[in-house]
Amino acid sequence: MIITHLLNNIMLKRKRKQLLTKAIVGSFQDKLFCKQSSSITLMDGSTPDDIILGNKVWMWGSLNSQNGGKIIVGDYTQIGIGCKINAVDSITIGKYVTFAPNVTIDDNNNHPISPQFRKYMRIKGDVDSSLWKYSNHAPVIIEDNCWIGRNVSIMKGVTIGANSVIGANSVVTKNVPSNCIAVGNPAKIVKTGIDSTPAPINCQNYNEYLKQYTEYGTTK
Ligand SMILES: CC(C)(COP(=O)(O)OP(=O)(O)OC[C@H]1O[C@@H](n2cnc3c(N)ncnc32)[C@H](O)[C@@H]1OP(=O)(O)O)[C@@H](O)C(=O)NCCC(=O)NCCS
Repeated sequence: MIITHLLNNIMLKRKRKQLLTKAIVGSFQDKLFCKQSSSITLMDGSTPDDIILGNKVWMWGSLNSQNGGKIIVGDYTQIGIGCKINAVDSITIGKYVTFAPNVTIDDNNNHPISPQFRKYMRIKGDVDSSLWKYSNHAPVIIEDNCWIGRNVSIMKGVTIGANSVIGANSVVTKNVPSNCIAVGNPAKIVKTGIDSTPAPINCQNYNEYLKQYTEYGTTK
């Protein structure tokens, strides 16, 4: 009986989510290369206005907003499959950013630190008390042209500067300056000045592109 109830509940939630996904992703579709795996979920007062997507965004992942959390994604950014971007405050992502699969960005702790409050959540099963707004939260910023490796977690309050790279499986808890490579848990900087790394010389398409578009390399 309890299991049936639980299953029904999960299915109901799924159904609601799928409907929401269809409705909301549909309204963004002209701007997106939107894959079947993608979703946008608006919870507890969030509205479509809380999600701002640039042009030519490649969307494989999920954007989840609670209580008016803002999610802003710049032009030409790719949100990889399995990525989860969870905002109750704000998550701002620049242009040309590449997210490998399974990156998670949380601008909040999800649950409060207070042991008494968490015990209350479990005892009462109070859905409201589990909302992200009761946990510590701070805006996250990922600047233009970053590359975030697979399975990376980016925590609340972090800014990653333009062009920087985060190695696979890293956990980013502190700011990363521009033009760096940071890796590990917690992520530490292992290389700086990567803006002076030359592009590979053997990519014919890139060489042709350079000839045609002199503005390449700017953040326009
Ligand atoms: C970070 C990365 C780009 C490597 O950059 P690189 O300039 O070639 O750097 P190196 O291989 O010289 O590594 C520099 C140091 O960081 C370490 N390192 C590299 N990647 C690491 C990672 N993910 N976690 C922990 N340490 C890592 C190396 O062991 C090396 O340490 P050392 O100086 O003590 O020897 C690469 O390791 C990576 O993580 N790529 C992401 C791949 C991915 O997620 N692809 C998904 C498709 S987009």
